[in-house]
Amino acid sequence: MMKKKLISAFTCLLVTFAGKAQQQEKLSGPEDIDRILSLLTLEEKASLVVGPGYKSMLAGITGSQVPVPGAAGMTRAVPRLGIPAIVLSDGPAGVRIEPRRKGVSQTFYCTGFPIGSLLSASWNVDLVQRVGAAIGNEALEYGVDVMLAPGMNLMRNPLCGRNFEYFSEDPLLSGRVAAAYVKGVQSQGVGTSVKHFAANNQETNRFWNDSRVSEDVLRRLYLRNFEIAVKEAQPWTVMASYNRLNGVHTQQDRWLLTDVLRGEWGFEGLVMTDWTPRRDTGAQIEAGCDLMEPGAGSQIREIVRKVRRGELAEQALDVCVRRVLELAVKTPAFKGYRPSGAPDLEAHARIAREAAEEGMVLLKNRESALPLREGAVLALFGVGSYHLIPGGTGSGHVHRPYVVNPDEGLEKEGFTLDESLAAIYRKYLKKNMPRKTITSGMLGSPAAPEMPLSRATVESAAENADVAILTLSRQAGEGGDRKLKDDFLLTVPETRMLVDVSEVFHARGKRVIVLLNVGGAVETASWKHLPVAILLAWQPGQEGGNALARVLSGKVNPSGVLPLSFPSDYMDLPSSAHFPYDYAGASSMGGGRDKDRDVPNFGYTEYAEGMDVGYRYYQKAGAPAPSYPFGHGLSYTSFEEERGAETNGTVQVTVRNTGKVAGKHVVLVMDPDLRGFGKTRLLQPGEEEMLVIRLDF
Ligand code: GLC
Repeated sequence: MMKKKLISAFTCLLVTFAGKAQQQEKLSGPEDIDRILSLLTLEEKASLVVGPGYKSMLAGITGSQVPVPGAAGMTRAVPRLGIPAIVLSDGPAGVRIEPRRKGVSQTFYCTGFPIGSLLSASWNVDLVQRVGAAIGNEALEYGVDVMLAPGMNLMRNPLCGRNFEYFSEDPLLSGRVAAAYVKGVQSQGVGTSVKHFAANNQETNRFWNDSRVSEDVLRRLYLRNFEIAVKEAQPWTVMASYNRLNGVHTQQDRWLLTDVLRGEWGFEGLVMTDWTPRRDTGAQIEAGCDLMEPGAGSQIREIVRKVRRGELAEQALDVCVRRVLELAVKTPAFKGYRPSGAPDLEAHARIAREAAEEGMVLLKNRESALPLREGAVLALFGVGSYHLIPGGTGSGHVHRPYVVNPDEGLEKEGFTLDESLAAIYRKYLKKNMPRKTITSGMLGSPAAPEMPLSRATVESAAENADVAILTLSRQAGEGGDRKLKDDFLLTVPETRMLVDVSEVFHARGKRVIVLLNVGGAVETASWKHLPVAILLAWQPGQEGGNALARVLSGKVNPSGVLPLSFPSDYMDLPSSAHFPYDYAGASSMGGGRDKDRDVPNFGYTEYAEGMDVGYRYYQKAGAPAPSYPFGHGLSYTSFEEERGAETNGTVQVTVRNTGKVAGKHVVLVMDPDLRGFGKTRLLQPGEEEMLVIRLDF
C-alpha cells in the first residue's frame, strides 16, 4: 500500500515538475523575452518574422480555418514556447473582416465609420480619438490584435487614389489626427499600424515607383506627420510602404526605418512590410523591418539559408524577433482575452453619425438657403441621392451592417420627397448597380453611372418640389489613382443634370443645393455659381444619410473645415506636372535600369514641386487662387475670434458666437503655415470659450 502511495506521490511530483518546466518554457511576459529568445531555434526565429500568407485574408473564399476570417494577415505561433499568432486586420474606416462564416449563424459586421478625410475635416481630435476607441473595441471583441490603420500619407496631389483614407495636405493636422486615432484604438488594448511609411503618395505603379524627393522636403512634409504621430502616440507598429524612396525600397531602407524612425524619433515598436511578395528578406531584416507580411515560406528558407552561410547576422534576426515578441506580449491573444463577438454596434453607429456630422463642410450657402425649411418638398437628383458611397474601395473598405442613403435620411428627418422622381432613380439603380463580384465583395464596389436625365423629368419635378438637391458621388481606392476626366472633372451627364436642374428650378424661383459625396477634391470652379448652397458630405460612412439630413435640416450646425485645397484647375498644381496619371510630366513608367542610380527603373515620380503642396503653394505670390481653400468652412451662425499673444508655445484664442444659433468653431493658427488649431465645444448664441492652442515649432 505504502509503495503505491509513494509511486503516486512521486508521479505527482514528476508531473508537477514537468508541468512547471513546461510552464517555465512558456513565454510569460516582457521580462521573459531574453530567455525565450535563447530557446528559439533558427527556423523558429525565421518563422516569427514571416507571416503565414493570405489564408486569413482569403478565408471567406477558401473556408480556411483561421481565428478571424477576412483579417488581412497574421504572424506565426510557436506553441511550445507559448508564443501566440497575432491577428492583423484592416482598415482605417472600420474593422474589415468577413461578416459571415460558413455554418455560423452569428454575423460579424463592423461599423462603417466615415473616411479619414472627413475625420480630419472635423478638426476635433477628441472626437477622432473616440472613433479610434470604438474601432479598437470592435477589433478587440472580434479577436483582432492589431489594426492596420490609420492610413496617413500626405495628400501631395488630389488624384491619389487613396486620399480618402488619408487626412490632409498639411503634416501637422495629419499627424495630430493620426495620433488621436492611434491613442483611441490603443486605449482598447489593441495595436495600430501607421501607414504607409513613407512617401507613398500615388497608387500608380505603387509596388515599384521611386519617390524622388529632397531630404529637406521629405522631413518637412512627408515624414513630419509620421514623426508627430510616433512621438505623440507611440503606435505599436509602423507599416513600411511598397514604393522606393530615392532609389531604395522603404522596406529595406535602414536610414528610414532605423536611423530616423527609431534613432531620431524614438519609435519603440515593430515595423512590418505592406503586403509584399518576397523581395530581399535579408536586406529588410538588416534595415530594421521586423515582420514580412503577408509572408511566404520562401522568405523563411531565405533567412535560414543566409544565416547559415554567414550572409545575414543572426543578431540582426534576433533584433527583429525580439520586436515580434515585444509586440506579442502586448496583444489580447497573448493575454488570453476571450473576444465576445458582440461589440456594441449601436453605440458605435451613434459615434459614426456624430463624426460624420462634424466632418461635413459647408462650402457655400448663399441667401442662407440652408438649413432647409421644415417640411420642404425635396426633388432629389443624382444616383448618389439614393445610393450613397459610404467609403472607398480596397483595404479601406468595411463590411457594414447597413448604409443610410440620403433619401432615407431625409425622409426620416421629416422631409417629403418627390416620389415620382425617386421612383425613376430607384428603377434605374435596380438595373444599373455595379455587379457584385468576389473583389467587390471583399474590397467594395464602384459608384453607379449617373442616370441621364430628361428635361421633361426635371420640368415635372420642378412643379411639385420646393427645392432641388443634387448629389455628385465619387468612388476611388487602392491600386489605382483617380482620373482627371470624368472623375476630378464632372461627367457629361452630371454637367447636363446640373445645368438643366439649375435652369428649370431657377426659372421658377426655386433653389438648387449640391451635395458632394466624394473621397477628395473635385472640380468646382466651373459650376459652383449654379447652386445656392454646396455641402461637402465626403464618404460619410454607414450613418451618412442620417448625418447629412440632420445638417441640412439645421438640427446640426455644420462645423467642418477643409483639410485640403480644392483646386480651381487641376493643372494649377505644381505636382500635376509630376503625377503619373493623365500627364507625361517627369514621372516615368519606364522599365529597364536607371542609368545614374544603377537600380531597376520601374518608374519614378520626381517631387519637383518641393514644398509647393496645397496651401503652401497657393500662399505664394502670383499663385492662382484655389476654388475652395484649405481652412474654408461655413456655419449657420457667426463667430468672432480674439487672439492673445504667444506664450510658452501656446496662444490663447477667445471665440464668441455672435450669431443666432448654437455652433462649434475651428480656430487655425497659420504663420504662414499651420502651427496649431483648436475647436470649441457647442457655443450657444452669445456664449464664448477661450481655447489654449498648442503651437507646433
Ligand atoms: C494593402 C494596403 C495596406 C493594407 C494591406 C493589407 O495592399 O496597401 O494598406 O493594410 O495591403 O490589406
